[in-house]
Amino acid sequence: MSELAINGGEPIRSDEFTKYNTIGPEEKNAVAKVMDTGVLSAYFGKAGNGFLGGEKVQEFERSWADYFDIKHAITVNSWTSGLVTMVSAMGFEDGEIITSPWTMCATAAAIVHAGHTPIFADIDPIDFCLDPVDVERKITKKTRAILAVDIHGGSAKMDELLAVAKANNLKVISDAAQSPGGKYKNKYTGTLADIGGFSLNYHKHIHTGEGGVIVTNDDELAFKCQLIRNHAEAYIPSPFEASLVGHNFRMGEIEAAIGNEQLKKLDSVLVERKKIAKEVTELVSKYQFMSIPMPQNVEHVYYVIPIVFSNINKKLNRNWLISALHAEGLRNVYGGFANVHKLPYFQKNFPTNENLAIAENMHQNEFVCFQNCMYALDETSQQSDLLNIIEKVLNYIAKRI
Ligand SMILES: Cc1ncc(COP(=O)(O)O)c(C=O)c1O
Repeated sequence: MSELAINGGEPIRSDEFTKYNTIGPEEKNAVAKVMDTGVLSAYFGKAGNGFLGGEKVQEFERSWADYFDIKHAITVNSWTSGLVTMVSAMGFEDGEIITSPWTMCATAAAIVHAGHTPIFADIDPIDFCLDPVDVERKITKKTRAILAVDIHGGSAKMDELLAVAKANNLKVISDAAQSPGGKYKNKYTGTLADIGGFSLNYHKHIHTGEGGVIVTNDDELAFKCQLIRNHAEAYIPSPFEASLVGHNFRMGEIEAAIGNEQLKKLDSVLVERKKIAKEVTELVSKYQFMSIPMPQNVEHVYYVIPIVFSNINKKLNRNWLISALHAEGLRNVYGGFANVHKLPYFQKNFPTNENLAIAENMHQNEFVCFQNCMYALDETSQQSDLLNIIEKVLNYIAKRI
């Protein structure tokens, strides 16, 4: 076996892997057509034509709703905007919303922006999503909803969370930012809660630069989201009462035109990402000190390949592993993920008194985050470099146990 690059040997790859990129001529043509019309946004803040946005926005929303088999799809200019819109549309009195610490901070920030208190519950070590038992323990008289996160491209345990919510008269909101096309018990993630949705920022499987889509089967919630994203000043004839304060969270025509083309690519993109995850999983499963947990009932779309590493000793620990992989040329891996409750703002304003033991241990010690939408890895040579790097480093460790 050749010397590891971290110990002065030749790296397996000196060029960076090709960047993941789903934008092509289809998107370029779609943008050019919008430019030719001169209409870059056709929203109007008042009732009537334009309240629901322009031609491309409405076309994109119909395509999204068809694909995800849901009644309403509502585009927004970012998924952070989508989260704020969904929580605001619920119209809760001030209260608590239980969410996961293992997420991007926007999930919890949206709760704060909508005027509520985030309460963090621990995660399950297999799916890295909310542990329904801990969620139930965190319910108080002030709890209004559970904001579940389908992290890494997987899914929260929706049956259990929906049952806890039903028993306690709570709403369920789903942050499926990282999981477009993922499934739980054969249903699309994001669509199993009262309301949910996806991010279209430029890191994601498919994207519009910035953007997001809310999905729901609930007519009233959909109507309120449409109002909130478009200033909420319009009086729209509707069976629902709405006294809301709005934002400008509208998506433009260019982003919607790009989104239309991206959605057509989603199936093929997922096939590729799942293939890489399968190969990495098969390789990693040969080493007893590493694992990629497989949650039940979930069709994972591997935005991140979630890897758990048992530190071997003081030297062969997670930091060493990440440095060794980087030195061989694989730079889409890092140690830990997120403990939102530990961010200074949340510690100061919403301190969590008890440990979230699993989230904290995973973040500090065991979790290795493989960012699967960072490199293309679609050519055989790139895939073999990827697998050779992992194998070289893991063989080195295996010989020293
Ligand atoms: C789980 C999760 N929630 C929310 C967001 C925020 O989405 P956006 O960047 O589109 O505002 C992200 C973005 O990465 C995310 O991963």
